[in-house]
Amino acid sequence: MYQIYPRSFSDIDGDGIGDLPGITARLGHLVELGVDAVWLSPFYPSPQADAGYDVADYRDVDPIFGRLADADELIAQAHARGLRVIVDLVPNHTSSAHPWFVEALAAPAGSPARARYVFRDGRGTDGAEPPNTWRSVFGGPAWTRVPDPDGRPGQWYLHLFDVGQPDLNWDLPEVRAEFEDVLRFWLDRGVDGFRVDVAHGLVKQADLADWHYPEEPLSGGGSEGVRPPMWDQDGVHEIYRDWRRLLDSYPGERILVAEAWVQPAERLAAYVRPDEMHQAFNFEYLLAAWTAPAQYAVITRSLAATDAVGAPTTWVLSNHDVVRHASRLGLPPGTPKPNGIGAGDPQPDAAVGLRRARAATLLMLALPGSAYLYQGEELGLPEHTTMDDDARQDPTWKRSGGAERGRDGCRVPIPWEADAPSYGFGPTDASWLPQPALWAEYALDRQREVAGATYEMYRAALMLRREHGLGRGTLSWVDTADDVLAFRNGDLLVVTNFGADPVGLPAGTQPLLSSGPLDSDGGVPTDVTVWARA
Ligand code: GLC
Repeated sequence: MYQIYPRSFSDIDGDGIGDLPGITARLGHLVELGVDAVWLSPFYPSPQADAGYDVADYRDVDPIFGRLADADELIAQAHARGLRVIVDLVPNHTSSAHPWFVEALAAPAGSPARARYVFRDGRGTDGAEPPNTWRSVFGGPAWTRVPDPDGRPGQWYLHLFDVGQPDLNWDLPEVRAEFEDVLRFWLDRGVDGFRVDVAHGLVKQADLADWHYPEEPLSGGGSEGVRPPMWDQDGVHEIYRDWRRLLDSYPGERILVAEAWVQPAERLAAYVRPDEMHQAFNFEYLLAAWTAPAQYAVITRSLAATDAVGAPTTWVLSNHDVVRHASRLGLPPGTPKPNGIGAGDPQPDAAVGLRRARAATLLMLALPGSAYLYQGEELGLPEHTTMDDDARQDPTWKRSGGAERGRDGCRVPIPWEADAPSYGFGPTDASWLPQPALWAEYALDRQREVAGATYEMYRAALMLRREHGLGRGTLSWVDTADDVLAFRNGDLLVVTNFGADPVGLPAGTQPLLSSGPLDSDGGVPTDVTVWARA
């Protein structure tokens, strides 16, 4: 599954923001790369307070991305090329520009219009304090006070994300009915499924109890034994059972994929029980340290958790919310997951990062289950780690008062042609986020048909993955030295060396693909993964 971030994939009209016709024009790239399906981040009408994750109309296309007819064309063209299309569904919150919220603001406290969201009276004198201690994932309080229709200071509304993203009240049957209708709208247009944004957030603990953030304050998931009152409440599962029934009433295969920052793996697995969603992103895998024991543990745990409910395990290393893995893995071992990297921050080691990213990718693409790729990683693209802070657009940057750089560095428009304006992203120099000066070397046209290029490694891996049925295979570990991971999947032996010294492959194995050159005597050097025929 290949994630397209429409703002940054391909810009046909030259306004510096990618668009749906741009994606349609480049579908050939995805076929050549060898993916099965694409997931499109939101392209719906939106004030873009959170790059489109603030949806004002769930049944249309924002003019910056095109028209509804362009979505139809994209779906049709993708299907004609054998690609499935998954769209993003954002049910936890609407945009503050959504007609429902506009209506709610104009209506008095206690009105049916306000009941669609989470409005509460404040605490303290005259209700001047927020109703509880919850904080926005992007920084600051999770509540904003609004005036009553008569202009006097009134109630507060909940927004677990930006002020422009009011949380919906999922206890209300009307909200549920509306989203089932939205699902039907896109299923009727032919989409193959949905990636469900913040799937662990829809239902809140009824008493909205205070929460004192014992650990990483802005993390979406709880740690073992403590479940925050705003995340992973048991009530969400009923919603996904309803949606599953709805999807199953459509012909063909349609899927639901959960974005749920939930730990441990067993709690996450509940989202993919047989009558719920089909897959859930495995963020524990994304967050795991680059060491043999950490990788062994997370792979083993992930497989066991999803096997227990009969769902495919998933694997992901990058997306539009995290530092790209070619940079993340170039940070010193033990660095906690950064929320963006800026010019003043310690910089990743680009060479080490790319080397490890390639090894991690080959390790991932050999695992049984579903693998998710994020646009640009097939080019070995690093994070933009020196972006001018003035150029930042992620609300995280402002809401955290500059404490968190945020996610712009992984969202920069991707390079297609080394010598073209905006590296071929669009016909002009315009790019909604600045592209780093050094990106020509990552451009697709510098890598196609170049032996050893990251792009060619991805292509070869995806082809072998298909040929050897690795996605549907079974993993069995092979005993090795402490710093090495080795497993079999079907007729392949996969070896990753995390240690300093090279390791030999067993006699008689024939290397098929490796993430870096092998030693002159065939040994696997540090931070290299090899696929070999066993
Ligand atoms: C998800 C999206 C992220 C967005 C947030 C709020 O985590 O992946 O980009 O900011 O939800 O919708």
